[in-house]
Amino acid sequence: MKRIFFAIACLSVLSLSAANKPATVRWKSFSGDKHIEYRVDSLLKLMTLDEKIGQMTQFSCNWGITGPVMADDFMPYLKQGLVGSVFNASKVNGVRQLQKMAIESSRLHIPILFGLDVIHGYNTVFPIPLAEACSWNLDMMKKTAAIAAQEAASDGINWTFAPMVDIARDARWGRVMEGAGEDPYLGSLIAKARVEGFQGGNDWRSLHNLNTVLACCKHFAAYGAAESGKDYNSAELSENTLRNFYLPPYEAAQKAGVATYMASFNEIGGVPSTASHFLMTDVLRKEWGFKGFVVTDYTGINELVAHGVAKDEKQAGELAVNAGIDMDMTGAIFIKYMKKSVAEGKVSVVTIDNAVRHILEMKFILGLFDNPFRYLDEERSKDNQMRPEFMETARQASAQSVVLLKNDKNVFPIEKDKPLTVALIGPFVKDRINLNGEWAGLGDRNKSIPLYDALLEKYKNTAVKFIYSEGCNLTKTDQNKIAEAVDAASQADVILAAMGEDFNWSGEAASRSNIQLPEAQIEVLKALKNTGKPLGLLVMSGRPLDLSWEDQNMDAIMEAWFLGVQSGNGLADVISGDYNPSGRLVMSFPRSVGQLPIYYNHKNTGRPLSPQRPDEDYKSKYIDLPNSPLYPFGFGLSYTTFTIDNVKLSKPSITMNDKLIVTADVQNTGNRDGESVAQLYVRDLVGSVTRPVKELKGFAKVALKAGEKKQVSFTITADDLAFYGLDMKKKAEPGDFKLWVGQSSADESNEASFTLK
Ligand code: NOJ
Repeated sequence: MKRIFFAIACLSVLSLSAANKPATVRWKSFSGDKHIEYRVDSLLKLMTLDEKIGQMTQFSCNWGITGPVMADDFMPYLKQGLVGSVFNASKVNGVRQLQKMAIESSRLHIPILFGLDVIHGYNTVFPIPLAEACSWNLDMMKKTAAIAAQEAASDGINWTFAPMVDIARDARWGRVMEGAGEDPYLGSLIAKARVEGFQGGNDWRSLHNLNTVLACCKHFAAYGAAESGKDYNSAELSENTLRNFYLPPYEAAQKAGVATYMASFNEIGGVPSTASHFLMTDVLRKEWGFKGFVVTDYTGINELVAHGVAKDEKQAGELAVNAGIDMDMTGAIFIKYMKKSVAEGKVSVVTIDNAVRHILEMKFILGLFDNPFRYLDEERSKDNQMRPEFMETARQASAQSVVLLKNDKNVFPIEKDKPLTVALIGPFVKDRINLNGEWAGLGDRNKSIPLYDALLEKYKNTAVKFIYSEGCNLTKTDQNKIAEAVDAASQADVILAAMGEDFNWSGEAASRSNIQLPEAQIEVLKALKNTGKPLGLLVMSGRPLDLSWEDQNMDAIMEAWFLGVQSGNGLADVISGDYNPSGRLVMSFPRSVGQLPIYYNHKNTGRPLSPQRPDEDYKSKYIDLPNSPLYPFGFGLSYTTFTIDNVKLSKPSITMNDKLIVTADVQNTGNRDGESVAQLYVRDLVGSVTRPVKELKGFAKVALKAGEKKQVSFTITADDLAFYGLDMKKKAEPGDFKLWVGQSSADESNEASFTLK
């Protein structure tokens, strides 16, 4: 198997260096609109080679308070019409200034495309994507992406570098905060929701709407498989793993009509993605039929030299463009060397023309040629930022992203009508600065609502009183502060400790080898525990942490991630019980960093450990830890309890063209209304290649009144059971399957079987 993949990888490298081979397939427009095609082609005919290469070039600038400040010296290029896109410019005036320059001083007056990392909000900052994914609420994710697009587009941004759809199995990798976790099925649905949210639907016509932006599916491909969780590291994975686990969300984005892709920094099988003909052309364009454009990641082309597949930057540019890259992000490689490469016959004009067509078409679709300033209206911009309804959505998104991991001694909720004194301890109680998390757009960190303010507001005129003590700062132990915290705690009936990571500890270039809470914070928690008072922990983090010690020592744990501008309010809604937590994990929480990478949909191996005989020797296991995660994928508690039973299959076997209907009863067995996430997992018992021990194939988030019971229903077809086998063709194989409908990936209480014939 590996050998086959290796052969494919080698072929890709060989084809990269085949000098004159045009990388791209014959141009087919993204829109399929004859009128647009005609305009693209007519313009292309007027362009010089320099102007074409200019379109393939993106520069970055830094924004200042009133507008952009140039970081690179790209003004001369801009004035000559040799820049296709600028990123990091923002605000109407700044964008207008640059657009005016590009239009007025260039020969062909081609407008610039303005890009920005609008990842989880622009001014209204929503929960980090990993948190939001825990809501399992696709409509909401679509809505927050749409709001982000509306705000950004109103400031002149045409293009966001989102969604990030990289499957992530290793919590050391700081960029897990930006994705949707470890599961390809859920990840694909979320990719679709976010693309449709940003782009206004799955029809290219919606991109003309002033409230939408081009989305960019990134980082293609398998950036999340970075070895040892170290950012920018190589991904070592077979084509089987690539296709069955990592590629599905990228493909889902293509099916949802995503306009652009971004190449990832990593290599796979010896080929950096930026130079991968296999990924950029064979898979993306030929197999999937993608017709938009592909941008590199920041200096991705220059880095081909460091990767060691190009001897210099000129050759790096040739490898990239021949692989199928259309636009160079900030590397200035194309602009410096591409003309020479074309003259030497190393890159064909056809390849250049196709890249330029891909880019120009988007500008036509956006209407920039008809009016390059059509997005730029100060009044509209002001009116479209942080509107009350956006803030309300942000609050709901925050509450729905919270995952309750443990709740002994009924620490949560803290009811408003019970006379209680609550000690609020920890560096995150009054913190504003970290709440937006990384990649927070233009979000003003000073505007984010701290937990403290929100709780005082929520419980004003109630029987609940709060005492506050900081306990420590993020990383520094201070015995006086600990003593004060213990003093505050001993006057209270219950303690809430808010601890966690600095927001800079996740995101880009923020891998951690230790994913526990900092020692200083644990010291405070130990002191608080000694008071013997009920102790609840709120964890603010951009990744799953190792909470093993906390699980043993805290009475309750609530994963509060980084929830954005409405952080405090969303959390106060959950803490008070005004919102019954419904979040379910989308990444496994490890017992120790030593278990990483850890994911529920792993293979069985030839020596699986039986849960009934955990001590058995010579099995695939650790001698010092169980195999299971501390908290599994799909897990989360609510302030009520649910049961799932009465699982029924419409028939015992289905054919390749049939449908299997699986139904189950979900009941709220507690005394509080709530939402359950019923999850359907399937196991393919025997395959021509090994299959995961289980795979999510459906879910239903159901709102249930106290005591209420509802039936959920899932449909399974052969397509849902298809996978890539030895021939790398996707198909289902006849055979026996097991399924479970449960409340997490570890819940096997409802098992059934069926056969595919
Ligand atoms: C590098 C990051 O990897 C990518 O996700 C981002 O979009 C670009 N920089 C631009 O900021």
